[in-house]
Amino acid sequence: MQHERVLVLDFGGQYNQLIARRVRDLKVYCDLKPCDMTIEEIKEYDPIGIIFTGGPNSVYDADSPHVCKEIFDLGIPVLGICYGCQLISYMLGGWVEHAESSEYGKREFSFIKESPLSADIPEKSVCWMSHTDHVLRVPEGFEILASTETCPVTVYGHEARRIYGIQFHPEVVHSEYGNKMLENFLYKVCGARGDWTMQNFVAEQVENLKRKIGNKRVLCAMSGGVDSAVAATLIHRAAGDNLTCVFVDHGLLRKYEADEVMSEFREKLGMNLIKADAGERFLKKLKGVSDPEKKRKIIGKQFIKVFEAEAKKIGAVDFLVQGTIYPDVIESGKGKSAVIKSHHNVGGLPSVVDFKEIIEPLRDLFKDEVRRVGTELGLPEHLVQRQPFPGPGLAIRIMGEVTREKLETLRDADYIFRDEIAKAGLNQEIWQYFAVITNSKTVGVQGDFRTYENVIALRAVTSVDAMTADWARIPFEIMEKISNRITNEVKHANRIVYDVTSKPPATIEWE
Ligand code: XMP
Repeated sequence: MQHERVLVLDFGGQYNQLIARRVRDLKVYCDLKPCDMTIEEIKEYDPIGIIFTGGPNSVYDADSPHVCKEIFDLGIPVLGICYGCQLISYMLGGWVEHAESSEYGKREFSFIKESPLSADIPEKSVCWMSHTDHVLRVPEGFEILASTETCPVTVYGHEARRIYGIQFHPEVVHSEYGNKMLENFLYKVCGARGDWTMQNFVAEQVENLKRKIGNKRVLCAMSGGVDSAVAATLIHRAAGDNLTCVFVDHGLLRKYEADEVMSEFREKLGMNLIKADAGERFLKKLKGVSDPEKKRKIIGKQFIKVFEAEAKKIGAVDFLVQGTIYPDVIESGKGKSAVIKSHHNVGGLPSVVDFKEIIEPLRDLFKDEVRRVGTELGLPEHLVQRQPFPGPGLAIRIMGEVTREKLETLRDADYIFRDEIAKAGLNQEIWQYFAVITNSKTVGVQGDFRTYENVIALRAVTSVDAMTADWARIPFEIMEKISNRITNEVKHANRIVYDVTSKPPATIEWE
């Protein structure tokens, strides 16, 4: 079944993926595509509505991205946001003013005329502005629908042509009724039905996969992370025992993690899951190595070798599963390069497995949708809401050489940190939180004894995509509890420090 779908044309703004996620949250499937799509491609895509995103350019820049003018004659509703809003006005004969200074932050705006976009929204509310240029005169036949004190054309549109522009960013949470405006555009202007739900997705995917896989054999590498866990569970629904999963335990996972994976997937779900216990092998290869990039390379290489040995035992398969998700396949705004990120864990696998075809059942989904699919499939919340965990695992959270003793100390400290964050109910707000074992030892006094032990650093960040991050403001009382527990309960740790650096200039991980 073909879902109704919206086309989000990407003009290079920073919130573009967020727009697409909002639309999908409103139960309408959409794709983020480069803005230079041709009119034929757009017709073939057959959207129920088109959204132009924001972007860093001014419509007057010589190389600013434009769209083909015929787009406005297709009879398909169009909504322009920020740069998109200015572009519509510019292309249809309105006037965009090149302002001297930028307007940035929260502003109160008022609707001055009712329209489908303003349904069920108070006359005055707060919006989030981030622009330099703005529309000064709307194109002929268009009406001004809302303004702020400084921005006369905040929302404008043409009801019969179903074309609208919003100068602010309705997709960000600071715009009080922004989501409602997007909903109004989808349901009241485009006439959406809302057929994109994770329940539908699971039902359709299982049917499609059953048809595709039939009685053939499937192989999947499981890391215990959200994507591979959800991909494997989905395939398992369709393929049952024809699916074999291989879980390489490199011995660098967090406390209890390997056991949790085995118990959840093999015991509870009855999956055909093989665990390769390779902890010793990895430790041996990492002996004496302290350079972070060398550690990564060694781990990546060994991971593939261990997987290859397991795959050989299984023999030829028809399909290899990859946990690729939508952000990995989106093309950039200018449509030049398709950025395919291959997770280091699985990137090299196709070359060592004897298979015919790759299947990527999560290719169309954003991360939050993957989590919802996991819930829909009955996976427990602690697994589905798992924070990102790097492929090289704890090796890049141990400064210097990785040793068994350091691994143990770090695991215990990290476990307490995560436990207290979860107890405080902060695990959803914080993007990633973990302990690091630094390369420093300091003097302490524990009981009546002088100690000379490791400094443990705690790292907790908020972020939307890991590209930038801020350190999380964890309340002092919780910090106090964590610090007391670690120094009391964990061997070889006598001092706790908290990392108060954002990214940039630091990275999230210490190595
Ligand atoms: P940084 O440290 O670069 O991390 O700010 C950004 C995000 O990527 C994760 N990360 C990795 N993930 N292999 C991975 O699979 C790696 O080598 C790796 N290094 C960093 C990190 O945990 C954060 O979420």
